Amino acid sequence: MTLECPTGQDIVIVGATGDLARRKLIPALYNLYLGGLLPEEGRIIGYARGASDDEGFRQLAADSVAEFSRRPFDETRWPDFIKRFTYVSGREEGYEGVKRRCTMPDRLVYLSVPPSAFGPAIKGLAEAGLVDGTHLVVEKPFGHDLRSAIALTDTIHEFFDESHVFRIDHYLGKETVQNILVFRFGNAVFERVWNRDAIDHVQFTVAERLGIEGRGAFYEETGALRDILQNHVFQVLALLTMEPPSSILAEPVRDEKIKLFRAMRPLTEEDMVRGQYTCGTIDGQEVPGYREEPGVSPDSQTETYAAVKLQIDNWRWAGVPFFLRTGKHLPARATEVVISFRDVPIPMFADTHITHLPPNRLTILIQPEEEIRFEFLAKVPGPQIHIEPVTMQFSYGTSFRTKPAEAYERLLHDAM
Ligand code: BG6
Repeated sequence: MTLECPTGQDIVIVGATGDLARRKLIPALYNLYLGGLLPEEGRIIGYARGASDDEGFRQLAADSVAEFSRRPFDETRWPDFIKRFTYVSGREEGYEGVKRRCTMPDRLVYLSVPPSAFGPAIKGLAEAGLVDGTHLVVEKPFGHDLRSAIALTDTIHEFFDESHVFRIDHYLGKETVQNILVFRFGNAVFERVWNRDAIDHVQFTVAERLGIEGRGAFYEETGALRDILQNHVFQVLALLTMEPPSSILAEPVRDEKIKLFRAMRPLTEEDMVRGQYTCGTIDGQEVPGYREEPGVSPDSQTETYAAVKLQIDNWRWAGVPFFLRTGKHLPARATEVVISFRDVPIPMFADTHITHLPPNRLTILIQPEEEIRFEFLAKVPGPQIHIEPVTMQFSYGTSFRTKPAEAYERLLHDAM
């Protein structure tokens, strides 16, 4: 894989004033720029419904970098970065305005809008004659259910060839997630124990302290199951549980993931718990309950928390339960997978004070800690048998002395 990027390309963000653009996309573009990984020529064109102008959009970009960027705001480099930014008001100019701002024959168009807005955006691009030279980036949730996902694919294919569409899941751009492939398929020792014979159960948690951050309309269409579970969690789970692909290229990996998804037992109501956060306080600040959030119906049934027990019906995993859970406004932010191994077959230390030995556990910490830990048992020094769990640990900070790049940097760069 090379780190080259095209010398000239325009980048269009549809939904440029939304939460994703402010929190992730603009800071990612800034960090790519600082790393010399943005095309030398081309504009960054923000498109959104509201009235604003280049100045307003540049101020929004400055605020978003100040608040969310991995690397700090650099006054000396900022003018050269921000001069590319230009804004199109959908209400005033529509996609014709985007066309007028484009300076390059090639462009990347990032649809940073809810799934219900994908169709109109794609048609708008087509009507403005922006199909040739465009690569589209679409994100999850892709539609609302199977029928709407198929309809969306049809709409895209009416105008765009699939080879010009990137369907992305930002969890797959995280270093800690990409490392799962290396951990599993670069180390022979784990494959021997990566199955129902050695593993008792797996727990996968995506806990967020954030609430819905003003995205009521989006979240009402989505909920925790569609927002996190059936995409981010399932994608990571697939990397953890699929069979070894014939190579690490995209298609063989995709094929193995599909086989794995087909082996997942369909979930029923009995396999899951769904919940909603109510009002409370965070760091001394009062926060509203989900149903009081702007854009949310007062009798909404949309879940902000979901816990699921999943079974994978194949030879490797039959009988191993996977407990998956995710939620907003939980006490701590933590994305982690805990793999609990089976107990020893015979309790050798039964005649000591020890009645139960805690299981060996492998924990993959995806964020905010970026680590892999293996817990096993050791004898506490002394004349008697005392046993305690101890930990072997790999952390990115200590081993590589670096903080991994943000997922969106990797994804935008790959797409460019
Ligand atoms: C997004 C969801 O895909 O992922 C958000 O739409 C969520 O609701 C976010 O907050 C979490 O991403 P990360 O990288 O912070 O775990």
